[in-house]
Amino acid sequence: MKVGVLGSGDVGQALARGFAARGHEVKIGSRDPGSDRLKAWLKETRGAITTGTFEEAARFGELIVFSVHGSAVPEVLGDLGPGPFGEKVVIDTTNPLDFSTGSATLLFGLTDSLGERIQRTLPKAKVVKAFNTVSSVQMVDPQFPDGAPEMLICGNDPGAKKTVEGILRDFGWPAALDVGGIEEARWIEPLVPLWVRIGAKLGTWRHALKIVRP
Ligand SMILES: NC(=O)c1ccc[n+]([C@@H]2O[C@H](COP(=O)([O-])OP(=O)(O)OC[C@H]3O[C@@H](n4cnc5c(N)ncnc54)[C@H](OP(=O)(O)O)[C@@H]3O)[C@@H](O)[C@H]2O)c1
Repeated sequence: MKVGVLGSGDVGQALARGFAARGHEVKIGSRDPGSDRLKAWLKETRGAITTGTFEEAARFGELIVFSVHGSAVPEVLGDLGPGPFGEKVVIDTTNPLDFSTGSATLLFGLTDSLGERIQRTLPKAKVVKAFNTVSSVQMVDPQFPDGAPEMLICGNDPGAKKTVEGILRDFGWPAALDVGGIEEARWIEPLVPLWVRIGAKLGTWRHALKIVRP
């Protein structure tokens, strides 16, 4: 599969590496695809991943990973428009986090979410929220002493959610926990400021929230 990863931060790099390691062709998109930072990183990936603009990565991918800074989502989507995304599956890892007050809060939320905004901007694409509640260092081959939890996901298209669950299993997650339509992102995204607070208390950024059942 050809995968376009929009965003070259920790998440974009971790997921790009995960897809490439499993034999997929990956293009990672950035505002500055020729930067020294990305050139140095590409050397480590030994040619399995190429770089491009956000638009090139979006057009390249049969499946898209959307992993840009939460505050940059409107700008990136506004520049690209829905064209390059078509009816593709878009995995949305983003969070509308705001650290301006010194602690993690949301730029907006509870009555809307980045997942919903992305889906509204890309009406034909099949947006699935996933990976946003775990650290980039645990996204691929997660390591937890008692086993990885189910990954919280949501989205409107059942087929797209099945595709994403397959990717999650391939990446080492036991299963997806499907919370519902994309509007459920307004409840999944606010878990992340809680996750940040718990991480600060525990002194780790490798932790995850787990749903247990009787
Ligand atoms: N880090 C984590 O552990 C983690 C875990 C779960 C979810 N998330 C979420 O996943 C997303 C990516 O997180 P991240 O930690 O990898 O990196 P990030 O620092 O949040 O974002 C990095 C990416 O956003 C792009 N970007 C930043 N400002 C921009 C602007 N003004 N206009 C256009 N693009 C801009 C950068 O572009 P350039 O390539 O051009 O620099 C880069 O590709 C975020 O929404 C975050 O909340 C992060």
